[in-house]
Amino acid sequence: MTPDFSSADAGNLEKTSRQVAIDEVITSRRSVRQFLPGPIPIETVMEVLDVAARAPSGHNTQAWNVHVLVEEALRRLSASILERLDATESAPDQPEFDSYPTEWISPYIDRRRKVGKDMYTLLGIPRGDTAGMRTQLFKNYTFFGAPVGLMFTLPRIMVPGSVLDLGMFMQSVMLAALARGISTCPQAAFAPFHRIIADQLCLSNDQVVICGMSMGYADATAPVNQVVTHREPASSFSFVHG
Ligand SMILES: Cc1cc2nc3c(=O)[nH]c(=O)nc-3n(C[C@H](O)[C@H](O)[C@H](O)COP(=O)(O)O)c2cc1C
Repeated sequence: MTPDFSSADAGNLEKTSRQVAIDEVITSRRSVRQFLPGPIPIETVMEVLDVAARAPSGHNTQAWNVHVLVEEALRRLSASILERLDATESAPDQPEFDSYPTEWISPYIDRRRKVGKDMYTLLGIPRGDTAGMRTQLFKNYTFFGAPVGLMFTLPRIMVPGSVLDLGMFMQSVMLAALARGISTCPQAAFAPFHRIIADQLCLSNDQVVICGMSMGYADATAPVNQVVTHREPASSFSFVHG
């Protein structure tokens, strides 16, 4: 395939239709937490994954693996995780991959609190309603009603370097899906359940569960999907050196 660099004209300040389209897909992506039950053809899911596989990776290693769960496999995994949560009040297994620090500091803790507060406010769950929060948290494990669940794993030997590559792949999955009208929610919430996941997906011991993802058509009327998260401007986190 001949590379097309035709729209890489940095001198042209007019936004091309390609820029508009790509910027629109990036900036309109949201984490969706309530889906319509309508299925997505498996061919469409595979097409999204084929497009996303154009993501870069160090030395083109492409170490990512993704397990696509639909129908009975998805229901079985959900049921097993919820059963585990019902059976014990104790914390699930330690994740094999840490998504978050054990000690939080500002401004990250503040941003975390804000997104939680905004979401619970929209859902009408008051501060201190631990049962209400727990019910919402548990919706992670039914993939928020989505017809497709994805589970991303990496070979243990490649961790943590390939996590960067996996992140780019996951973002590409989310954008390629959205370009087709399909929404997503990345989910670190699955990581502590790696034993159940490994068992159900017959993962070999050399695979580490990094993250899950819900995929489906957004329920546009659901209050939880009205959350709009804030972003700091580039000027606050970028440092230009001349
Ligand atoms: C690696 C990763 C893991 C995440 N895990 C969860 C999760 O377990 N459950 C959830 O509801 N949202 C999860 N999110 C979504 C974030 O809360 C969300 O991306 C963030 O609040 C910004 O909102 P936006 O995606 O709507 O722009 C995760 C996002 C990322 C990138």
